[in-house]
Amino acid sequence: MPQKIAAGNWKMNGTRSSLSEIQAIAEAAQDIDCTAILCPPAPLIHSAAGLAGPLAIGGQNCHHAKSGAFTGDISAEQLVDCGASYVILGHSERREGYGESDTLVRDKAQEALRSGLTPIICLGESRDQRTAGQALDIVLAQLSVSVPDDAQIIIAYEPVWAIGTGLVPSVAEITEMHDALRAQLHAIYGASGQDISILYGGSVKPSNAQEIFAIPNVNGALVGGASLKAEDFLPIMRSLAES
Ligand code: 13P
Repeated sequence: MPQKIAAGNWKMNGTRSSLSEIQAIAEAAQDIDCTAILCPPAPLIHSAAGLAGPLAIGGQNCHHAKSGAFTGDISAEQLVDCGASYVILGHSERREGYGESDTLVRDKAQEALRSGLTPIICLGESRDQRTAGQALDIVLAQLSVSVPDDAQIIIAYEPVWAIGTGLVPSVAEITEMHDALRAQLHAIYGASGQDISILYGGSVKPSNAQEIFAIPNVNGALVGGASLKAEDFLPIMRSLAES
């Protein structure tokens, strides 16, 4: 059975004064029956991990090399050393803004696993690709190249056009994509493909979480804006626990 996972991606938001939100989420998380993960900006990871209790902490990116002359980068081992247990990889903001390819994402995922992190691998089509009827082909092609050899991963389907826009695909569109992702995970990993959590991401809010979590093969969410405040993220976690 895939785990139910509510993951928050803070992106480049938050300073040490925001740690109180992480503390509030961590305290409430003890009574909510789902796996909760928060991925704050790297400078906050160590402090966040000290507060987190049942809340797991993740990074938002890592380098594919173990160490070396890579100014400004962060290794998977360094994330582990600061208390992280997950890392988001291949987010569309990194694929688009930094030219990250599927093969680079796979190399990062391999290194993350070697270091003891569980990678959260993001996939998603652009608006133009969806309009052209290419969404399934694009996302399944991303999946086939971006994943590592080991099935110890989480997948996040995040249509680029739904991120930060308030737009969400229809229930039928999410169903079609998540069913196709599940089938391909089976094809890649065999029986272990059944246990991989497939998260939906893109404008998830307390108001739409219940409807999204009712969709088969949606095992949770990767949440951006609505993970910044406990008052928004906790209702999403509760909806997931009740789904
Ligand atoms: P929003 O929830 O702000 O749309 O962001 C989604 C996202 O990119 C999470 O990784």
